[in-house]
Amino acid sequence: MLRKITTLVATAALSATLIAGSALASGPIVIKFSHVVAENTPKGQMANKFKALVEEKLAGKVKVEVFPNSQLFGDNKVLEAMLLGDVQMGAPALSKFSRYTKKLQIFDLPFLFKDMAAVGKFQQSDKGHELLKSLEKKGLVGLGYLHNGLKQLSSSQPLRVPADAKGLKFRIMSSDVLAAQFEAVHATPLKKPFSEVFTLLQTRAIDGQENTWSNIYSKKFFEVQPYITESNHGLLDYMVVTSKEFWMGLDKNIQSEIKKALDEAIAFGNKIAAQKSLDDRQKIIDSKRSKIIELSAAERSQWVEAMKPVWQQFEKEIGKDMIDAAYKSNM
Ligand code: SIN
Repeated sequence: MLRKITTLVATAALSATLIAGSALASGPIVIKFSHVVAENTPKGQMANKFKALVEEKLAGKVKVEVFPNSQLFGDNKVLEAMLLGDVQMGAPALSKFSRYTKKLQIFDLPFLFKDMAAVGKFQQSDKGHELLKSLEKKGLVGLGYLHNGLKQLSSSQPLRVPADAKGLKFRIMSSDVLAAQFEAVHATPLKKPFSEVFTLLQTRAIDGQENTWSNIYSKKFFEVQPYITESNHGLLDYMVVTSKEFWMGLDKNIQSEIKKALDEAIAFGNKIAAQKSLDDRQKIIDSKRSKIIELSAAERSQWVEAMKPVWQQFEKEIGKDMIDAAYKSNM
């Protein structure tokens, strides 16, 4: 009997040692957060804030490693890597999800949103929440939207009316809607990763690109693009995503603390986005490297007229109800 009890105690002690040992060996949960932009951008700042908040609230339990500037994964690889478990979080531009869902193409429709208030209103509506869930069948969880802002057209030549873009080559993100948008003005769209844009512009392999003030400034596109048309023709926003496998595998309390930290970091990033689009625009003007072209109402309406047929082209894939709901957010 005594021998039996001694064996049981020894077994229990051994199991306790093994459990403690494995907890110690596994260490904190590591979230690798990969993105493609500079640190001094809305997304870069949001990711750093998220790291600070998580590591304050979940000290010793969760660690966040942020990889900016395509250091870990570029545009077209991050979601694949997430599904393989090589990275846990990212915030790709909404234009970069088309391999996983066609629904998010709505955010690329030209001239759909009149300003960022309308974008925010739509993203926070029921339809906006529905779109956050559109990746679940593909094993991805949308955790929230993050703003960057409205896009401008930069070019080696002045662009005032759509005819000025005819025959020019523009780099675009990997989106068929963006391709159709440039085809609508008889320009040639080229899908290229963000990390290649500066060199493509500098070597004149392409004539122009579309981006927000903060990306044009932080990646120095304005230094190699003599003209920027303030077109505000489209949106560049992000979805913060993780894999379903990683997210569902988290302890519920930890998951809820991470989500709270993310919501706070997104609110912080959105404030930065609004301020940066004003400040970085001004810095570009002050640099005198690039001339900013402001469109008259008549010139702008020519762009709208030329590009708006793209809505109809993608109506089936996106859903008319979705487009109508997004359009109504302008009211
Ligand atoms: C980004 O802001 O994440 C990149 C945008 C782009 O590819 O143009």
